[in-house]
Amino acid sequence: MIISYNEAGRLLEGKKEISLDLGITYSKVEKEGDSFIFEDGQRLTEKDLKKIVKKDTMCFFIENSSIVPISSFSEKTNKFYKLVPTGSWPTIELSGIRMHVTKSMTPKEDTEKKISFVQPCTGKVLDTCTGLGYTAIMASKTADEVYTYEIDKHVVEIEKVNPYSKGLFNKEKIVRHEGDIFLEIKQLKTEFFDFEIHDPPRVALSTLLYSQEFYNQLFRVLKKGGKLYHYTGDPGSKRGLDVRDGIIKRLQTSGFKQIARVFNGITCMK
Ligand SMILES: C[S@@+](CC[C@H](N)C(=O)[O-])C[C@H]1O[C@@H](n2cnc3c(N)ncnc32)[C@H](O)[C@@H]1O
Repeated sequence: MIISYNEAGRLLEGKKEISLDLGITYSKVEKEGDSFIFEDGQRLTEKDLKKIVKKDTMCFFIENSSIVPISSFSEKTNKFYKLVPTGSWPTIELSGIRMHVTKSMTPKEDTEKKISFVQPCTGKVLDTCTGLGYTAIMASKTADEVYTYEIDKHVVEIEKVNPYSKGLFNKEKIVRHEGDIFLEIKQLKTEFFDFEIHDPPRVALSTLLYSQEFYNQLFRVLKKGGKLYHYTGDPGSKRGLDVRDGIIKRLQTSGFKQIARVFNGITCMK
């Protein structure tokens, strides 16, 4: 059972039904004194709920009638990971950096936007960076097969508990890999994919995924007539910088054609 500030707030306001899976299903909660009793018998106090309401950028498990933050720190990667509630699908934060747009739109709308650039999204699809799996899961609605890659085991742990990432583990069309796409792509067959979605972390965090060598591989594994959507965001735009200039030059060098700037990214064809 997962609870965030939204649902804790609803209970404190006196609502008797809340969601314990971030908005997918709803269940009844009883009140006894200052305890809130959930359908499985676990209890939280008003004090627990007030604590949750204060932490509005964190989701919590309810375990043994206490709250446990859905977060972790890795000494190996030196990163802090957490599942962040948004009122829509949650996002994941890696040391303060969110992996989906959450300000101007919800992660769900962000994902719909990304998929809209690779229509009809059929055949074999490459999703380079799994994250919470939203692009892979949405692409799998129309694709025959989606190959998706996640390098970070701590992200995979959060995928496993996020109710909106379930499709990653139960959809046969999704071929999930735990590994580095920069290396793994070299093992993939030439002209294998009909569509590619490249949604890497920002350039400072994953330079190689913006390199000429990687773009050459994206070009190689794409079928003739296939389409790539490359999420770039718009970092530096407030300072008059455009990261897309350099990316476009490298994509051209790889052989991509019909390169276009689109909202928060680039599309191009082989
Ligand atoms: C922006 S998020 C992707 C979000 C994803 N499209 C979704 O729908 O949730 C980028 C992800 O790429 C992962 N990543 C970074 N470098 C990688 C690499 N070399 N290979 C595979 N995954 C990588 C990060 O750990 C992070 O989870």
